[in-house]
Amino acid sequence: MKEIKLEIRIHSLQYDELTPQDRELIDKAKEATSRSYAPYSKFSVGAAALLKNGVIVTGTNQENAAYPSGTCAERTTLFYANSQYLPTQPVLTLAIAARSESGYLDTPIPPCGACRQVLLETEQRYQQPMRILLYGEKAIYEIDGTKDLLPLSFGGEFLK
Ligand code: THU
Repeated sequence: MKEIKLEIRIHSLQYDELTPQDRELIDKAKEATSRSYAPYSKFSVGAAALLKNGVIVTGTNQENAAYPSGTCAERTTLFYANSQYLPTQPVLTLAIAARSESGYLDTPIPPCGACRQVLLETEQRYQQPMRILLYGEKAIYEIDGTKDLLPLSFGGEFLK
């Protein structure tokens, strides 16, 4: 038997260690949480995508009384960015922030599995890594691309 180890790398930073551009993106993701529609979970998620042309697109989670009909902030944001700007404007960085009724989470909010799959495919469509910033009150995780978020991934290349 052979063991295969996959390594992922995450940088943990404080807000004041971020570049001004990353700070702005985190601020926009946090601000976006106020436009979340989360009457059921009361868990408000915001995402902000920086495109190559400098435009920042934001999105939030949108829930529905028929629960599976809702969608996460990351997918709202990336699908909108792809609908408006693909193929000329890759998403360079995606920032994500979340707060419950008691405030922003202390630990960085990781995207759900379904969103990771969408992040991966967006990255593949643009053929360049998408940086990911996960906001937490106590730390911010900076991830270089989906390879460090979704190792051993399934993608369109298997269907060829
Ligand atoms: N949610 C997101 O928007 N992004 C994630 O990565 C995790 C979960 C939303 C979905 C749902 O509206 C609420 O948070 C609770 O799961």
